[in-house]
Amino acid sequence: MRPANLKTKIFLDGGDPDETKTLIKLLGFLDGQTTNPTLISKNPEAKKRIETGNKFSEDEIIRFYQKTVREISSLIPEGSVSVEVYADAYTNAETMLRQGKEMFSWIPNAHIKFPCSAEGLRAAEQAVKGGMRINMTLCFSQEQAAAVYAATRSAKKGDVFVSPFIGRLDDRNENGMDLIRNILKMYARGDGHVEVLTASVRKPDHLLYALKLGSDIITAPYPILKEWGEKGLPLPGDKYVYDAGALKPIFYKAVDLSRHWQVYDLTHDLTAGGMEKFSGDWNALIRKS
Ligand code: E4P
Repeated sequence: MRPANLKTKIFLDGGDPDETKTLIKLLGFLDGQTTNPTLISKNPEAKKRIETGNKFSEDEIIRFYQKTVREISSLIPEGSVSVEVYADAYTNAETMLRQGKEMFSWIPNAHIKFPCSAEGLRAAEQAVKGGMRINMTLCFSQEQAAAVYAATRSAKKGDVFVSPFIGRLDDRNENGMDLIRNILKMYARGDGHVEVLTASVRKPDHLLYALKLGSDIITAPYPILKEWGEKGLPLPGDKYVYDAGALKPIFYKAVDLSRHWQVYDLTHDLTAGGMEKFSGDWNALIRKS
């Protein structure tokens, strides 16, 4: 059962509908799911095909993603399911938008994931004007989050998520949770149309601190949510303190939200690296013909 005082929406980060089913039983609720190309490549059916040397054609992999997302969507019809476009360093906004439009038609509750790159932001700006719900992924800086805010001013609350990837910052010794705190603080001066989705959660304390900070949404992998469910869905109390250990702090910057999105510095090596990894994992599923 959902705890009465839980305000944050809880999403599963994964590409296997069986996990979704099991988790709904365990938690008693689930508010949504995020997928990405890497997670789809880890889907048991996809893995089995690859292991037996039976790669997908371009068309088959898209149909497979569609089938998987439809199954997940039917399990959480009232929730949101994030579906990610293919985007490498050369993919332009028009190509992302074309894919996004198709994916958005797959299920009634999709949020389309575009990267926090210049082309991704350009696609996002057009997408929200056309009424698409979006999730801006691979966010690693306050400036990128400010650009998401500025590019989507016409959208209504609930239609735009920004996903700061905290685990990947931790991986290189920067305190990813600081980024969540900083973006929430910056957005508190805005109109609330962008929801902060804490992503790349690696440990239970990421979940607890994101709850404490008041992140709008948290997406976490199956093992983390399973553990949380088995412990009885604990929420952080008043005395909860997040221990960042030796991670380097990320300091808050006074970023003005009222500027044009193109003015903000969108470059981040982890965004570029993340796009390379996602597109590489996707390409590895496809046979060369
Ligand atoms: C979010 O939508 C992403 O799918 C995810 O959280 C990425 O996490 P990772 O850094 O563990 O790959």
